[in-house]
Amino acid sequence: MEQERTAIYPGTFDPLTNGHVSLISRAKEIFDQIVVAVAAETPKHPLFTLEERVQLAREALEDSGPGIVVEPFDGLLVDYVAQRGSRILLRGLRAVSDFEYEFQLALMNRKLRREIQTVFLMTDYQWLYISSTIIKAAASLGGDIHGLVPACVERSLQKKYAKGDVRRATPCLVPSTEGFALPGKKHA
Ligand code: COA
Repeated sequence: MEQERTAIYPGTFDPLTNGHVSLISRAKEIFDQIVVAVAAETPKHPLFTLEERVQLAREALEDSGPGIVVEPFDGLLVDYVAQRGSRILLRGLRAVSDFEYEFQLALMNRKLRREIQTVFLMTDYQWLYISSTIIKAAASLGGDIHGLVPACVERSLQKKYAKGDVRRATPCLVPSTEGFALPGKKHA
């Protein structure tokens, strides 16, 4: 009997977007099972807690059919992939700008565990311009993000920003450890 092919799709997913959902459903045409692996440790200062990121991804993907599992992971990604009994890492490529980072990540992971292969899928053109960061940036300023994220994510973003105390977690495109603030304006 042919062995089941499980691909591990790792990311911060802060939060999951329709770009991720689209990639997962296309990957399902190739692999038997996709494990959406939500990173516990990340230098990105996530807006959502690990539990929230996992919960949102589960809710968003519950109607996407069988063979999709969402779970958190910590520690070294390649060790987790091996523990999960897989040898396939799945990543999405949106633009040339992703390439350098993804190339580095794939080669480092390969150096750490040679048997693990990284498979890249091109993101559908309609999601080329979105990222979790740009969606948070728009949502934090009241922008309409309808259609760019699953409904549960849209609601959660609105709830977070309605509280008004999370703008620090939403650097607009510029990676920052300190968040951003307009001169003379103070954020909580
Ligand atoms: N459509 C739209 N946007 C997409 C996308 C798609 N198909 N695929 C990715 N993106 C966006 C995401 O929204 C995200 O945007 P953001 O940077 O604004 O948050 C960005 O592209 C990439 O994020 P994501 O896919 O969530 O992955 P990541 O780069 O945050 O994940 C890990 C990095 C988790 C894989 C990496 O840090 C890791 O392996 N950590 C574990 C520790 C480890 O092993 N480290 C050593 C690695 S050598």
